[in-house]
Amino acid sequence: MELIEQFALVNTPVFLKTVKMLLAVMYIIHLPYIGMLLGNTLFSLIFNAMDKQQPNGLHATFSRRLIDSVAFRKSISLVFGVLPLMVITLIYIQILQSGGASTTLFLIYSLVPIVLGLIAVNVYRITFSQRSYLSILIGAAGIGLLLVGYFVLIASVARFHEPDRWKFVTSLTSLLVSYNAIGNYLTFLMASLAISGAGIVFFIFKWQNDSENDTPEFQRYARQFGVIISLIFTLLIPIFLIFSFITLPDVAWSNSMMFSGILVIIVLAIISLVLTAMLQRNDLKYGISLFVLFIIAYSLLVITNAITRENSLVELSKTINLKGEAMLAELIPERGEVGSGLTDYARGEDIYKRICSTCHRFDKQIVGPAYNTVLGKYENDINKLVAFVSKPTKVNPDLPPMPNLGLKINDVEAAAGYLIKTYQEEYK
Ligand code: HEC
Repeated sequence: MELIEQFALVNTPVFLKTVKMLLAVMYIIHLPYIGMLLGNTLFSLIFNAMDKQQPNGLHATFSRRLIDSVAFRKSISLVFGVLPLMVITLIYIQILQSGGASTTLFLIYSLVPIVLGLIAVNVYRITFSQRSYLSILIGAAGIGLLLVGYFVLIASVARFHEPDRWKFVTSLTSLLVSYNAIGNYLTFLMASLAISGAGIVFFIFKWQNDSENDTPEFQRYARQFGVIISLIFTLLIPIFLIFSFITLPDVAWSNSMMFSGILVIIVLAIISLVLTAMLQRNDLKYGISLFVLFIIAYSLLVITNAITRENSLVELSKTINLKGEAMLAELIPERGEVGSGLTDYARGEDIYKRICSTCHRFDKQIVGPAYNTVLGKYENDINKLVAFVSKPTKVNPDLPPMPNLGLKINDVEAAAGYLIKTYQEEYK
């Protein structure tokens, strides 16, 4: 139906597709990175605090090595952290611009604690050598801020699955009341700890310069810790993943979503086997493959999520279209009356007030543009205006398309006549 297309969420399908692919790529870049950052900082804080309680060279070294890891280098945190996050937010605003969801606003709120959290974690890293409680406290505050920020982000995104309930999501606390959001968040946390365990095994030994000076004792300790942490949390992921699937609304389910969900679980099973083998043999041979497997698991998770979101968005655009149709059906006056067209100003005013003014004013933009900014070009060609209103075409790329109102031609004429007259007399 033409009307449905005109209420479509975003301008062109090709554009939308590209944007969504970009979104997936950004997540695949961002999530593993932020997971390792969270995990490394958390473990570094724990070992740091343990060492302060009871000095232990091993814990102190481990804590320092964790916080020194590549994840914290400036260029890396820009490329994998800040930039993808910006792009992700912009994309959601684009996708949801006409969905009218307050969740978009929460997405933007979530950036504040995340950015503050990143700064605090960095302060912890810089002040690490002081080994002060203040430094540990700042690091812990950083973790807290990141946990809050990512909860808001993930819960807002999870809410995209429930378009019919968006209107109830008006406060931050109402974000909490979604099992699906909580399931997604816990999945994210488990995956973060699992990949940071793998990161410890992979990065600390392969990439850090001073690894040659490590004592065999430290190597064994760190490796064991990484593998065990990674194994425990990898095994926990499916529980929360399945929970988040079960709590999805029916509209989000589809065969392809099930298929990619099952693939995730298979990859997680392979990861667990690799980790078990590493634990038994005590070597690092599989470090790289382990890491690659984690990236594959993350990619599949992102794809599964994209599919469910896609399923929900289809439902959302249907909801919006139906609302639009119902609204217009109410607004459109009885037809068939033959009036005097262009100079029937009273009728024109009536149509303006009842129909056009839902979306237009003369002096300000609401849904459609302010009339005083667009009528100039129709002033000397009223037929062009009649033609536009009878069958609107896309004009301004920053605005949604105007729907075809299905008015009788003489009603359109009356509205056009009234608009031009009012424009010339009062707004020009
Ligand atoms: C459901 C909302 C809605 C209603 C109702 C509506 N319009 Fe619009 N109108 C829009 C939007 C959105 C645009 C911007 C379209 C674009 O730029 O592609 C627009 C654009 C216009 C423009 C500017 C076209 C241009 O060249 O830039 C005119 C003139 C106009 N509408 C007239 C009317 C008249 C007359 C009515 C009533 C008979 C009406 N509109 C009812 C949403 C609406």
